[in-house]
Amino acid sequence: MFVFTLCLFLWSWLSSIHGLEFRYHNSMEMELYLKDINRRFPDITHLHSIGQSVEGRELWVLILGQHPREHRTGIPEFKYVGNMHGNEVVGRVLLLQLIDYLTSHYQSDLLVTRLLNSSRVHILPSMNPDGFESSARDCMYTVGRYNKNGVDLNRNFPDAFESNTDRERETEVTAVMDWLKTESFVLSANLHGGAVVASYPYDNSNGGSELQRGQSISPDDDVFIHLAKTYSYSHSEMHNRNNCQDLQDFTQGITNGYYWYPLPGGMQDYNYVWAQCLELTLEISCCKYPPEAELPGLWEANKPALLAYMQQVHLGVKGVVTDSYGKPAQNAVVQVVGRNNLCPFRTDRNGEYYRLLLPGNYTITVTYPGHKALSQTVQIPYGPDAFSALTRNLFLQKSDYSASATTPLPLLCTTLGHTESNSDTLLPGVFTTLLLLLIQRLLLS
Ligand SMILES: *[C@@H]1O[C@H](CO)[C@@H](O)[C@H](O)[C@H]1NC(C)=O
Ligand SMILES: *[C@@H]1O[C@H](CO)[C@@H](O)[C@H](O)[C@H]1NC(C)=O
Ligand SMILES: [Zn+2]
Repeated sequence: MFVFTLCLFLWSWLSSIHGLEFRYHNSMEMELYLKDINRRFPDITHLHSIGQSVEGRELWVLILGQHPREHRTGIPEFKYVGNMHGNEVVGRVLLLQLIDYLTSHYQSDLLVTRLLNSSRVHILPSMNPDGFESSARDCMYTVGRYNKNGVDLNRNFPDAFESNTDRERETEVTAVMDWLKTESFVLSANLHGGAVVASYPYDNSNGGSELQRGQSISPDDDVFIHLAKTYSYSHSEMHNRNNCQDLQDFTQGITNGYYWYPLPGGMQDYNYVWAQCLELTLEISCCKYPPEAELPGLWEANKPALLAYMQQVHLGVKGVVTDSYGKPAQNAVVQVVGRNNLCPFRTDRNGEYYRLLLPGNYTITVTYPGHKALSQTVQIPYGPDAFSALTRNLFLQKSDYSASATTPLPLLCTTLGHTESNSDTLLPGVFTTLLLLLIQRLLLS
């Protein structure tokens, strides 16, 4: 105990003077560091675990913000996830450096202060700590990529384009899926290595209308391209072609995920389709496990991009939808005309919606049981400059008719995204959902 306290003290003293060392910290050291940061910055940080790895390591998430412990209306939730492939370790290092930078520059640096005052930032430095501990320090090989059960976590999520619902979910994946239900995340990135490019949804396709010229195009393609370019152009090299001197030549440092290579069960599609959280896959180093001497350079190359990307959480429009009694309306369907998301975006338990959109004019429609459909046009400015999306609260009115016109949710969304049951097969899940919808409808009408 005494030795532990002494270690903590020495660690704390050294890191508060010199900042976090540029080296690879193992899981114990990372835990020590996160606890120390949380102790030193209790006002702007909150540390919690979202679950455990197969080998029982905690999946630590540090939350940073002016109100780190709880969501506040109008403050969007942002997240970064690193190291889901255990041997792709640069993301893990950079996210710890980012934590160091954000905490040490709050109130002294204007950008950092404005970011943390206007958004709530969740950082999971390692989604696959077991893989990390078993990794070979090698640029190319895949030793350590998978979790302890030998499963690729970025192939283990439910997929919108093929039925893999009966596949067994890994504990790290379940932890992330449950995490997504606890907050309404708006924007996210997961950090990988082995290339230098910003990849955006979709990662998969079943040959439907989304498939266009070899790309799998989502309804928010314009926003995704903007987000990917924000990262690649804020990065010192990513926007250049052919960074890794290999055959991969990414124009402007971005790519549609499917166009690069089709990938079922990926995390970014899952975030976007089911959690209405726009997520990119950021490949941030040619070498997956580079020598420690290269880490400071990688931090300098990525630092402005990591910050600029966080600021994009303020794109578009946000607000609270209230029902005819003036109460926040949960699960109201908020759609942007012309964008048919596979699962329509809905308000959360606070009645809030967030919609990342580029500047321009849009029509927003809201549908909610027992209420008149609402349609409003909005003129959206560039939110990141103001560190806030346009605020547009929407007030619903009671419908004249008892039979309410509501948009039924596509089965896909209800079966996988929001029912808690871990149904073994798809069919009972569908029936349960239909039954629940029916009961809900009867109670509401
Ligand atoms: C950030 O929030 C803190 C605490 O409310 C406040 O003192 C500070 O002035 C704010 N700074 C900026 C730049 O918004
Ligand atoms: C949006 O609408 C406003 C007001 O009607 C108009 O002045 C503006 O030019 C429009 N902007 C775009 C990009 O269409
Ligand atoms: Zn990877």
